[in-house]
Amino acid sequence: MNTETRGYSLIDSGNGKRLERFGAFVLARPAPQALWRPRQPAALWDAADAAFERRGQDGEWRGLDRLPPSWPVEIDGLTALVKPTGFGHVGLFPEQAANWAFVALRAARGPRPYGVMNLFGYTGLATLYAARAGAEVCHLDASKAVVAWARENAAASGLADFPVRWIVEDAVKFLRREAKRGRRYHGLVLDPPAFGRGSKGEVWKIEDDLEALLAACREALDEAAEFVILSTYSPKFTPLVLANVLSDAFGDRGGAVEAAEMTIPEADGGRSLPAGVTARWVAKP
Ligand SMILES: C[S@@+](CC[C@H](N)C(=O)[O-])C[C@H]1O[C@@H](n2cnc3c(N)ncnc32)[C@H](O)[C@@H]1O
Repeated sequence: MNTETRGYSLIDSGNGKRLERFGAFVLARPAPQALWRPRQPAALWDAADAAFERRGQDGEWRGLDRLPPSWPVEIDGLTALVKPTGFGHVGLFPEQAANWAFVALRAARGPRPYGVMNLFGYTGLATLYAARAGAEVCHLDASKAVVAWARENAAASGLADFPVRWIVEDAVKFLRREAKRGRRYHGLVLDPPAFGRGSKGEVWKIEDDLEALLAACREALDEAAEFVILSTYSPKFTPLVLANVLSDAFGDRGGAVEAAEMTIPEADGGRSLPAGVTARWVAKP
């Protein structure tokens, strides 16, 4: 396997779609914001191993029989096992790369022990970056299957024995319990969905529940806490909205808030695809 077929790249975008290499396989998936023309020839798009196509609110994969149930993709020396899901996701959000690098940098330089909490942790890339950099990580997601997937990624990355607590729980409930137990963290990573459900069916709706989540996060921050990262794909949230929300929640601790659109650069460097928004509160920028 050569380097090109081990990692991730965004090959092209346009006509409302994205063409991406995930390790050994090329996938075409919807990208509603790609309101421009593709730069690569149609033949390259047609040669994709599989494609996810929207059907109203849902969608379906074409060419699934050409893919294994899961396969490895190398990301910066870590291994993510990707799997096509019924939502068109594959368990890897490359636009989060700048956040992963930030977490790793802070964890590598921070005091010991250095606690990082990854809420809505999904398949765990932020967890793996933090753990590899020396942090003690609490990884939480409401879905048992997703936490199992994150653990598989840890094992595939050679990090199975690193200090990670794997929690299947509702984010806000767990945070409140951690606060009562007096557990505090140096860094928090939050990637809440627009809509979701806790482990016991608790409804999560970002517009209604973000304030309570951030209030619970305040209680989980160590006196020497260094950062809170919040990202979302909900179209109602711009970088400025996220920045204002984080300033509201953590501004009284000093520090600074920075916010940005998340993007994925096309492999030829010519263009980037927008993919959600993120903001950070940082105690010492
Ligand atoms: C990583 S986030 C966002 C992923 C994707 N980009 C999207 O927008 O759908 C989704 C994760 O949050 C988890 N989740 C949803 N509601 C939750 C809750 N109340 N507490 C903890 N995790 C939750 C889901 O199981 C899922 O793994």
